Amino acid sequence: MSLRITISDAAGHAGETVEIAGWLYNLRKSGKIVFPILRDGSGIMQCVALKSLLPEEVFEELKHLTQESSLIVRGKLRAEVRAPGGYELDVEGVTILQKVSETEPYPITPKDHGIEFLMDHRHLWLRSQRQHAIIRVRHEIIKAVRDYFDSHGFTLVDTPIFTPAACEGTTNLFEVNYFEDDKAYLTQSGQLYSEATAMAFGKVYCFGPTFRAEKSKTRRHLTEFWMVEPEMAFADLEEIKRVAEEMILFIVGRVLENKREELKVLERDISKLEMIQGPFIRMSYDDAVKNLQANGSEIVWGGDLGGGDETILTKQFDKPIMVDRFPTAIKAFYMQPDPEREEVALGVDVLAPEGYGEIIGGGQRIHDPDLLLRRIEEHGLPKEAFDWYLDLRKYGTVPHGGFGMGIERCVAWICGLEHIRETIAFPRLLNRLRP
Ligand code: 4AD
Ligand code: MG
Repeated sequence: MSLRITISDAAGHAGETVEIAGWLYNLRKSGKIVFPILRDGSGIMQCVALKSLLPEEVFEELKHLTQESSLIVRGKLRAEVRAPGGYELDVEGVTILQKVSETEPYPITPKDHGIEFLMDHRHLWLRSQRQHAIIRVRHEIIKAVRDYFDSHGFTLVDTPIFTPAACEGTTNLFEVNYFEDDKAYLTQSGQLYSEATAMAFGKVYCFGPTFRAEKSKTRRHLTEFWMVEPEMAFADLEEIKRVAEEMILFIVGRVLENKREELKVLERDISKLEMIQGPFIRMSYDDAVKNLQANGSEIVWGGDLGGGDETILTKQFDKPIMVDRFPTAIKAFYMQPDPEREEVALGVDVLAPEGYGEIIGGGQRIHDPDLLLRRIEEHGLPKEAFDWYLDLRKYGTVPHGGFGMGIERCVAWICGLEHIRETIAFPRLLNRLRP
């Protein structure tokens, strides 16, 4: 019995005879040698099988092995500078667990496939090197997010997914039947509940799936996405911006530290990420509108920034832009108006560079009970559904706020992807619920 190792652990076992369990990624043949390329989830390794050193039937079996067949390979590990990963395995024995049928071969081949075909085979496409790299960067980003908040005094308090009322407007709510007579909605954001937990714990975050019935097909919108949302009692807009900036710098630093190989697979221009340093660009909505008008946008004061507008703005700088003080009229009911200028709200969007656009939205929440009640009425929201939320303003109200960052938007930016659909294992889009 030889020691079972993973490919990522090869470095510690050079010169040893080991076994690796995995799948056949590719196979090169040249006369009396075959080079099975094995993947095991942790990495990829080229193996070398010499006809002269193996029993005839083992060599023949390997030679005719089909892509994605599952197998266990035994052999001696050898350092090889030219090999990806730096090691090769000289095959001494093979156990084939399943040979993929020749009449029904693995559908994803090294040739080009159309995007719809790949999306239909997402369950298999995840095995490819590029998808593998993206999901590993995503994991690093999520871990960095958690480490950042866990080491800065935040308590994780997750919030419900079934909710009785809207948080981010009623136009993109998913409605579900909740037993006989009740309706529930899939949450758009945990924020309202995080405001309650912030009043209990001071600094909190929630991190879970959120849902938006987005009727538009864009490269930035999913119908189900993961959002991390910190919320802080006693925080003002400047503090919220400071935390958002510090968190982003932490995430980018971690990815650069631990996921360079993956970024290389993705052909990401790493220098663009290395340029991400504080302080970020700070810009008011007023100035953003002026800038956009000067650069050919049709935007007028009062309108929301469109995807195209965000692209124009973010292409001008090599770091994120924090745009604050949007018109109160276009923002959610809970946004605190600027006391010095009621027509703008103390909210901020963080736009990622290179045309990526909004990855964070947040700001200060209304803490005055009368104003909040008025806003709920103005927005035509059912007051009964918000009685508990109003309680937070009745029992020791304090200025507070936070933000939400969509993980997939952040992954798309950091990986340099054109479309958000590759940032999550099984994307949910307007026209896609399968696989
Ligand atoms: O700007 P949004 O709508 O803000 C909120 O939901 C606040 N309640 C958050 C808070 O203050 N706690 O959404 C926040 C972020 C966006 O900046 C974007 O990154 C992401 O969530 N997002 C989406 N990501 C993918 N697909 C969608 N359809 C998204 N909608 C929002
Ligand atoms: Mg937003």
